[in-house]
Amino acid sequence: MNKLVECISNRDSSYLPIWFMRQAGRYLPEFKEIRIKNPNFINLCLNSELAAEITIQPIKRFDLDAAIIFSDILLIPYGLGQKVEFKKGEGPVLGDLKIEEILKTTAQNFLEKVSPVYKAISKVKEKLPQKSVIGFAGAPWTLLVYMLNQKSPKKDFDFFKVIENEKLTQKLLAKLEDMISLHINEQIKAGADVIQIFDSWAGLLPKNQLFNFCYNPSKNIINKVNNKKKPIICFPRGLGKEYAEYCEKVSPHCISIDYDVDPQWAKNNLKGIPIQGGMDPKILLKDENAIKKEVEKYLKIFSGYPYIFNLGHGVLPDTKPETIRYITNLVRKKR
Ligand code: CP3
Repeated sequence: MNKLVECISNRDSSYLPIWFMRQAGRYLPEFKEIRIKNPNFINLCLNSELAAEITIQPIKRFDLDAAIIFSDILLIPYGLGQKVEFKKGEGPVLGDLKIEEILKTTAQNFLEKVSPVYKAISKVKEKLPQKSVIGFAGAPWTLLVYMLNQKSPKKDFDFFKVIENEKLTQKLLAKLEDMISLHINEQIKAGADVIQIFDSWAGLLPKNQLFNFCYNPSKNIINKVNNKKKPIICFPRGLGKEYAEYCEKVSPHCISIDYDVDPQWAKNNLKGIPIQGGMDPKILLKDENAIKKEVEKYLKIFSGYPYIFNLGHGVLPDTKPETIRYITNLVRKKR
């Protein structure tokens, strides 16, 4: 077994595995070099050779404990036939939602479009047999937000506008649950050891809608994963104190906390579920003393608790690669 899996499955607090969300990305010169030559981001995700190479880049540099597959949560809308583009400085832009076409998409249609992801996972697993390979998917709610809103939501996001047409929303949610489960099961078949589910926009939901749009769909997905031995990490970003209710209702194998969650509160209130992450990625832009202080805070709080070192969201593009090395060394010294 590998260290990340042991930490989660055996609730083993002895090792302190470390990896970073967005560890393969724009802060790495070797990523930027490939990215410049591949202006179409979706096509890059679907190039299994390059996706595997990018996935391995941060492992080569920092010898982290886990490799998360280079891909994107928006490959699911893409696989369902919705146009997905990434425009420079704008983030993702999705095409019109053609609901009939989406509902007609079969598992086979979907797999024909996204199967290079699975090939990339197999390549990574082959090259890094001793590391944990992490597959992932967006949660139904977060994907629904992108598909209906057609871009990242802003501060003026209106929940009720997005779900105006309730029948359509329910149909879409059900379809997403099926396709997300399929996508996760295929990633596991290809060699993923662990799965992370990103519910990046959980925090946009009114409290009385959390059960219907966040807890329930995520629980359904976990239930539909065929291989019950593969741990699932859930990241319902922005839930605040509702992280406790989430853990109670969804019972993920591991819970990833964002930087608005007080780590001491999380340790005391999340039912002993292994915890991942928490540190604010913006602190990585500060000096070494500030970084060290914050890393030590997390290590002290989670000493003797099954904890995976990570951040409370992805590595920011302005982060220096040396900062990732610095943090990794600090965490290793504490093992
Ligand atoms: O973490 C990793 O290293 C694995 C790869 C990964 C990417 N996206 C690559 C990526 C993962 C796990 C994701 C998940 C993802 N994608 C999420 C959930 C996590 C989160 O950030 O909340 C979301 C919401 C998306 C959608 C998405 N993809 C957005 C909003 C953007 C643009 C904003 C941004 O950060 O650039 C992307 C693009 C994206 N996905 C990049 C990478 C490396 C940058 C693309 C580039 O080079 O221009």
